[in-house]
Amino acid sequence: MTYQHYIDGEWVDGHGTETFESENPATGETLGEFHRGTEADVREATAAADEAFEEWRELSHIDRAEYLWDIYHELKERHEELGEVVTKECGKEISEGKADVTEAWHMVEWAAGDARHPKGDVVPSEIPSKDAYMRRKPRGVVGCITPWNFPVAIPFWHMAVSLVEGNTVVWKPAEQTPWCGQIIAEMFEESGIPDGVFNMVQGYGDAGAAVVDDDRVDTVLFTGSAEVGHEIASEVASDPGKLAACEMGGKNGIVVTEEADLDVAVHSAVMSSFKTTGQRCVSSERLVVHEDVYDEFKERFVEVAEKVAVGDPLDEDTFMGPAIEAEHVEKIREYNDLAREEATNVLVDRTELGDEEIPDGHEDGHWVGPFVYEVDYDPDLRSIKEEVFGPHVALIEYSGDIERAVEIHNDTPYGLAGAVISEDYRQINYYRDHAEVGLAYGNLPCIGAEVQLPFGGVKKSGNGYPSAREVIEAVTERTAWTLNNSKDIEMAQGLSADIKTEDD
Ligand code: UN1
Repeated sequence: MTYQHYIDGEWVDGHGTETFESENPATGETLGEFHRGTEADVREATAAADEAFEEWRELSHIDRAEYLWDIYHELKERHEELGEVVTKECGKEISEGKADVTEAWHMVEWAAGDARHPKGDVVPSEIPSKDAYMRRKPRGVVGCITPWNFPVAIPFWHMAVSLVEGNTVVWKPAEQTPWCGQIIAEMFEESGIPDGVFNMVQGYGDAGAAVVDDDRVDTVLFTGSAEVGHEIASEVASDPGKLAACEMGGKNGIVVTEEADLDVAVHSAVMSSFKTTGQRCVSSERLVVHEDVYDEFKERFVEVAEKVAVGDPLDEDTFMGPAIEAEHVEKIREYNDLAREEATNVLVDRTELGDEEIPDGHEDGHWVGPFVYEVDYDPDLRSIKEEVFGPHVALIEYSGDIERAVEIHNDTPYGLAGAVISEDYRQINYYRDHAEVGLAYGNLPCIGAEVQLPFGGVKKSGNGYPSAREVIEAVTERTAWTLNNSKDIEMAQGLSADIKTEDD
């Protein structure tokens, strides 16, 4: 069977004639066939979402959240099964597949629980007889475009708060993970959410572009590559009243100072660089290490990178699964080639894995292992500026103080996540206050953020927070509401309320 789109409470083939397949990146096996959405399908979905908005917004937050509580329970009950689906469809090793599902129910729990929390502020007025408030209203139709690397968690980052706040949703899942999209849409259908409140159109970038340029879409939430995110942000910026919140990758770094505990440093760096095969937007591709500890850190990091277990992601002993697709392996290879030119020394090169490293039955997987190199820091090197999104790591030695380390750390166009490893609280606090990132960690890997914190970046990494708790800012309008309890009209700022006429 060919899986469908979910529009206005119906499963539909859509107007297109093309289909596409979901592929297991570890084996090359086909997991399912899906209708490829067109602009016309997106138009139908946004029309349905627009139509459903008026009734949906009339429900209380608490009633809207009830639909999400059903999904919360289902995500928990189906943890093992869905974790395996995630692993099969996007290649993350099984503990990560399951953590993706856990992160999804955490987000749903946060959003649905928040339904019973205050919604706005009571604000003092200069005039005692006035009550002033900040109130929130839903913005309308929210278009959600999500990536393949967190195929269950990130859709809920976008959609859970949006829906509880009273918006309706049109969602385009990543073309690499449509099976996860299908399952999430089935969950919404089973929850009994009113027709048109949640819509899903499967497909590629053209369907995503149709979501972005549809006049009925009031807010676009996007998590994905900088290239696409910047296009979306600039297109939406020219449309008054429309808003885009985009979160777009990084060239994340970890600073290891001369005061670092090297056990913590090596552990944090390995986790940050190689978990998810380096394919998190928060993965680290730069390690900025003080000269006093450089040699020891290098030796220990290289030793792990040489033998980190790459293999079948369903096997619990695997640390790194495959890359998502053949074109992505190609991109990683090209960046490894560039680094070979720019590096002073290549330390680990597992770009091409040996036949014996590839598990039986996985010969058609998209395999790539760690690549580690050292450079003499130079602001013009491309390999330490451009995001690879793979297990590709530069070691950069520095001398001097924490100020110098942070200067090198900040010398990238991106600013998503980063970490400092040090036992000296002054160095840690300097990093906290000066690192140009949205997510900063001390003595930890720079991955693994929890949903109750804001998630997003600065500089080229983001222009808003399409994720976790801060998404509320992107999906609600703030109304300043002032009520007069007196019969007299009295103005703030000493403004006269006297009406003067020719007769005065
Ligand atoms: C991503 O990197 O694409 O902080 C999202 C983390 C996860 C989310 C990552 N909670 O690593």
